[in-house]
Amino acid sequence: MARSPANFVLLLMAAATWSFFLAAHAGRLQPSCIGRERDALLAFNQGISDDPYDYLKSWRQERQDCCQWAGVTCDNATGHVVKLDLGGTYLVGKISPSLLSLEHLEYLNLNWTRLCGPDGRVPEFLGSLKNLRHLDLSGMSFSALLPPKLSNLSKLEYLDLSNIHFNKRIVLTDISCANQSLAHLNLTTLHFLDLSYNFFGHPIASGWFWSIKYLDLTDIPPGLGNYTSLRYLSLSSNHLTRPIQLETVSRTTLEVLDLSDNNITGVIPPWLGNCTSLRHLSLSKNHLTGHVPSKISLLGNLTQLDLSNNNLDGVITEEHLVSLKNLEHLGLSHNSLLGHLPSEFGATGLVELTLSYNYFSGHIPESICMLWDLLVLDLSNNLLMGGLPRCSRKPNLAFLLLSHNKFSGKFPSSLKNYSSLAFIDL
Ligand SMILES: *[C@@H]1O[C@H](CO)[C@@H](O)[C@H](O)[C@H]1NC(C)=O
Ligand SMILES: *[C@@H]1O[C@H](CO)[C@@H](O)[C@H](O)[C@H]1NC(C)=O
Ligand SMILES: *[C@@H]1O[C@H](CO)[C@@H](O)[C@H](O)[C@H]1NC(C)=O
Ligand SMILES: *[C@@H]1O[C@H](CO)[C@@H](O)[C@H](O)[C@H]1NC(C)=O
Ligand SMILES: *[C@@H]1O[C@H](CO)[C@@H](O)[C@H](O)[C@H]1NC(C)=O
Ligand SMILES: *[C@@H]1O[C@H](CO)[C@@H](O)[C@H](O)[C@H]1NC(C)=O
Ligand SMILES: *[C@@H]1O[C@H](CO)[C@@H](O)[C@H](O)[C@H]1NC(C)=O
Ligand SMILES: *[C@@H]1O[C@H](CO)[C@@H](O)[C@H](O)[C@H]1NC(C)=O
Ligand SMILES: *[C@@H]1O[C@H](CO)[C@@H](O)[C@H](O)[C@H]1NC(C)=O
Ligand SMILES: *[C@@H]1O[C@H](CO)[C@@H](O)[C@H](O)[C@H]1NC(C)=O
Repeated sequence: MARSPANFVLLLMAAATWSFFLAAHAGRLQPSCIGRERDALLAFNQGISDDPYDYLKSWRQERQDCCQWAGVTCDNATGHVVKLDLGGTYLVGKISPSLLSLEHLEYLNLNWTRLCGPDGRVPEFLGSLKNLRHLDLSGMSFSALLPPKLSNLSKLEYLDLSNIHFNKRIVLTDISCANQSLAHLNLTTLHFLDLSYNFFGHPIASGWFWSIKYLDLTDIPPGLGNYTSLRYLSLSSNHLTRPIQLETVSRTTLEVLDLSDNNITGVIPPWLGNCTSLRHLSLSKNHLTGHVPSKISLLGNLTQLDLSNNNLDGVITEEHLVSLKNLEHLGLSHNSLLGHLPSEFGATGLVELTLSYNYFSGHIPESICMLWDLLVLDLSNNLLMGGLPRCSRKPNLAFLLLSHNKFSGKFPSSLKNYSSLAFIDL
């Protein structure tokens, strides 16, 4: 085909037009930021006194499209800033009230930064960001508890206040007026609340009437019965000492209950058996006494059960375990459990079985051979005797701990078949 210079020029023009069209089109797809919101972000940046990882280096006036700045997300259609994620950036400074110009902000994450409001407090104006759904202030340092104004965040679904380092002295005085702050919040849409590792104290718990699905705090609030949508409850690593009293907590919705690493006394309440949606139950590192209630067998959804490091006694029977078909991790170590090991495990998918530091006696049951997925078996520091059962199929065990028992005789020949062992302690 003949290629005249005219044709060639036409072709070039077409190509140029097309690429211009593409660029323009792409430009329309990109949300371009709104001037007022860019100014607000720049003002926020003014309040930053240290940015150790140079995280905000893209936050510059000359880079017009603030939707492209690190940590900033805009709505595709409107261009409004909807998300500000500065989590884990270790920024130091003041949280500028200029954020109030981000009226459409739905997500604010300042975790593990050293930002704070006036007087080192949680800035009250956060309560005016009325579209917020997600607020993460975990790992930050504040001199006082939450401003009551936060209760105006009526769309809040996720509130993470874990690991907040409150200035101790001020907390002590604030505790007395905790009823004015946390207690009076009415965040009916909240489904995640994490207040773990705070060591507040009791008064904070009184008078709560939130409708929440996830709760993580320091004491078990008396009003929990009203939290009909509670799904996640973690009170781990606080200073709880009183027996577990969650009589009326939404037993059918609770999926995760973590009360580990406290000093809780008393027994494991049988009503836990009514929490049939539980997937994770951890009561480890407490001072629980008495038997493991057989009602635990009703928790057919459990994948993790950790009762280790308590003062539990009595026996663990087939009755406890046979219905726990989904169990993957079972931890009962460091208790005073005794008797024979259960001859049957309901869950063939057990991955980790730690029964060490108890008074289990008798032989290791053959049913161990049925646990194909078992990777960790810790039976050390018991009164077990005999040896490892002969399994007709090769177990996949990687960690086997059998030391400090009453095993005797020759090095068990059955061990030959445990060919995937990475660690063994006899
Ligand atoms: C924005 O656009 C991106 C890419 O086209 C898309 O993945 C994302 O879901 C959109 N976000 C919203 C909030 O519409
Ligand atoms: C803090 O936020 C960052 C960014 O969203 C996230 O990746 C990180 O997991 C968060 N850190 C913690 C401890 O929650
Ligand atoms: C919530 O907002 C309303 C109106 O905007 C205001 O009157 C009220 O004082 C606010 N509540 C708190 C606790 O600040
Ligand atoms: C908070 O509790 C203290 C003492 O428990 C009481 O004096 C005060 O009136 C309470 N404040 C509110 C707002 O309920
Ligand atoms: C909590 O807020 C909801 C809706 O915002 C309201 O209907 C309800 O009366 C409030 N409850 C209390 C105890 O203030
Ligand atoms: C549950 O809420 C009702 C009103 O909403 C209140 O009267 C009652 O005291 C609450 N129960 C508990 C245990 O706090
Ligand atoms: C539990 O009590 C002991 C003293 O009996 C104390 O040393 C420890 O810090 C307490 N642990 C928690 C998590 O409160
Ligand atoms: C547990 O649920 C059963 C019915 O499923 C009920 O009869 C029983 O009272 C409940 N137990 C407790 C302690 O709530
Ligand atoms: C597991 O939980 C679901 C709800 O999440 C419930 O319907 C079901 O009965 C539970 N299964 C058992 C065995 O308890
Ligand atoms: C090892 O496994 C084979 C089958 O794979 C079985 O026949 C044999 O008895 C086993 N040996 C021991 C010592 O368990």
